[in-house]
Parts: sequence; C-alpha cells; structure tokens
Amino acid sequence: MQEQKFLFILGSARQNGNTEMLARHVAALLPATTAQEWLLLMDYSLPLFEDIRHSIGVYPQPEGNEKVLFDATLNATDIVIASPLYWYSVSATTKLYLDYWSAWMRVPGADFRARMKGKKLWVISVCSDENMAEMSAHLVGMLRLTADYLDMEWGGVLLGYGNRAGDVDLARLGEAERGFFAV
Ligand SMILES: Cc1cc2nc3c(=O)[nH]c(=O)nc-3n(C[C@H](O)[C@H](O)[C@H](O)COP(=O)(O)O)c2cc1C
Repeated sequence: MQEQKFLFILGSARQNGNTEMLARHVAALLPATTAQEWLLLMDYSLPLFEDIRHSIGVYPQPEGNEKVLFDATLNATDIVIASPLYWYSVSATTKLYLDYWSAWMRVPGADFRARMKGKKLWVISVCSDENMAEMSAHLVGMLRLTADYLDMEWGGVLLGYGNRAGDVDLARLGEAERGFFAV
C-alpha cells in the first residue's frame, strides 16, 4: 500500500484559530510514520483566479506560492480541508485554492485529474453556531461534490463549535471524533 501523506490546508483568516486547533488535536493521533504537511493559506496568497479555460485553454506551470500549493496537493495521499465556516461555506482563501484546482487540471503535463483520483478528501470545520451539522451542510455538500467530481475518496467530516480563537470545545469530542483519522 502507498505510504500515507496528509496535507492540511488551513483556511482560517487568523493564526492559531479554532479549526487549526481541532485539526492538530485529531492529527496528533495519526501514526508517527504518517507524513504531515501543514499549509496556512494566508501565508500562500494567490492572485484572483482567472478563467481562461475557453480562451487560452491552458494554464502556465505554477510558480511561487501557487507551486507550493500545487506540489503539496499532488504529493499528498490525503487532503484535509480545514476551513472555518464563513457564511455557511468555506473561507475565501479555501475557495480560491479550490478554484485553482480548475486551473491545475489544465496545466500541460500535470495530469492533475488523473493524479487526484483516489486521493482521500477530509473536512474539518468550526463554526459559532451550536447547530453545527445544519449550518455546515453547504460547506460539506460542496466539498463532497468536489471530491466526487475528481473521483476522490471521501474521508469524513469533523465539526467543532467555537467562536473566539481558542474557544473550540475539544472536551465535547466523542471517542469516534477523537479517532477521526483512525482508518
Ligand atoms: C467572515 C466570517 C463569516 C462567518 N460566518 C459564519 C457562519 O456563517 N456561521 C457560523 O456559525 N459562524 C460563522 N463565523 C464564525 C466562525 O466560523 C467562528 O468564529 C470560527 O470559530 C472561526 O474559526 P477559526 O478560529 O478557525 O478561524 C464567521 C466568521 C467570519 C470571520
């Protein structure tokens, strides 16, 4: 079996936020031999996505921040989207990162679509409403459809509750949630 490499895509617009805290809490139970890469999207800002699919038709080879994200994405077996709930969906940086997947599908030689197939997509999110499942339904739904679109496997969803940074209620997690990544 291929060695697992987890990529954590952190989509919060602040450092050390609740979503990262929750992600780090459950990632601590990953086997020590499982590689982990953590990227805070705020640190890898991307220009606005341009839709040139039907004009130029191809996208240039990624460079700079885009290349870091591109390489990390293709290198991972497991991609964890760790985005807080912003307006019932993912944060803007997370959405922009996903928009770039559309570009990467059209980077000559990248073979992006074929290489995404079979990777596992996981979701971790925190929101400030106790009714987490209902409030996060669109965030989860759009990520699930995105995974399906790219023939990715679905890892699962972990939702947390909290508002101010550091609020996330880790004590509220059940055993199954703490063992989120146990496969
Ligand atoms: C722009 C913005 C939009 C938000 N939208 C929602 C929302 O739709 N529903 C909700 O319950 N909380 C919403 N929140 C609250 C955050 O989800 C909450 O504070 C969360 O803990 C932030 O996670 P973080 O610490 O990882 O950044 C929003 C916060 C911001 C800044």
